[in-house]
Amino acid sequence: METVVSGIRSTGKLHLGNYYGAVRNFVQMQHEHNCYFFIADLHSLTTHPTPEDLHANVRQVVVEYLAAGIDPEVATIYVQSEVPEVAELYLYLNMNAYLGELERATSFKDKVRANPNNVNAGLLTYPVLMAADILLHRATKVPVGKDQEQHLEMTRTFANRFNRMYKTDYFTEPHAFSFSKQLVKIPGLDGKGKMGKSEGEANAVYLSDSPEAIRKKVMRAVTDGGPTEPNQQKPEAIQHLFTLLEAVSTPDTVKHFDAQYNRCEIRYGDLKKQLAEDMVAATATVRERIHEISNDNEYISKMIRHGNEKARESARKTIADVREIIGIRKF
Ligand code: TYM
Repeated sequence: METVVSGIRSTGKLHLGNYYGAVRNFVQMQHEHNCYFFIADLHSLTTHPTPEDLHANVRQVVVEYLAAGIDPEVATIYVQSEVPEVAELYLYLNMNAYLGELERATSFKDKVRANPNNVNAGLLTYPVLMAADILLHRATKVPVGKDQEQHLEMTRTFANRFNRMYKTDYFTEPHAFSFSKQLVKIPGLDGKGKMGKSEGEANAVYLSDSPEAIRKKVMRAVTDGGPTEPNQQKPEAIQHLFTLLEAVSTPDTVKHFDAQYNRCEIRYGDLKKQLAEDMVAATATVRERIHEISNDNEYISKMIRHGNEKARESARKTIADVREIIGIRKF
């Protein structure tokens, strides 16, 4: 059975990008793979959350994992910081991660541009910690969205470098995975970039949003004056609405609006109404379960402690092997 690892940072509520890029694949993979799904609380420290926010956000992701259908009886759900072995592997991998390659990572460059006053070392070595997460369980498949593709490439580089340096084949190459043909990139509602937590509350649709909130956000999504000639290429903001429609609606619905667009007969209001209703329907079960689960403190604690222990077992084994390979031996 192949091993699968993936995580989500504890930065708040999960949105449709997290769901279609990552969590939906987690749920589908859990029965045929040995799965580890964690909450990347250490990664979220790069932006210096308050202790209260950090703890509440970790809990939120746990609740939403369960609500989305991850079964803790078959998959291991754990909190990254509860498996301290990851910090040790991160340290070893840092010795073979070079400044130049870390500085060239797209996500690092984006973060520097967005927040030039907080270019900390944790941000620079973010991909090394991510490689440690993956290699800690010697995973081969990593379900993630398109924005993580380069991090997976870097993980392979670090794994291969370790193998070469210590003349071993201990780590196998992990690959980004999605059930769809390509890795998913869900756009936001602002007509510009991807759906994300840092792009503003109105840009993202959260799994926990009420139907009313979803309708309001979608109706405000950016559009234009409409097509002026038949079969013209869709501008970015319109393409984004169609991409969202493809994620939540049926192929027939997409075809219907696409044909209308190509005949210059489209009414964006109709498209948005349909999109909002299909988003409401797509998130209905998860939304209900979030409310049910979030009150059950005892269940959450018990489940997560069990997951942490299982993850540590696997991590301890890898760290013992890695220490032996490196030559860190007991006297
Ligand atoms: P985070 O919290 O930024 O994102 C979590 C997951 O959601 C996916 N995602 C998207 N997918 C499609 N469209 C979007 N608009 C969108 N926004 C987010 C991300 O690709 C990701 O799969 N660095 C990771 C967390 C992590 C991790 C790991 C993942 C830490 N260690 C080890 C896998 C393996 C991240 O992006 O978190």
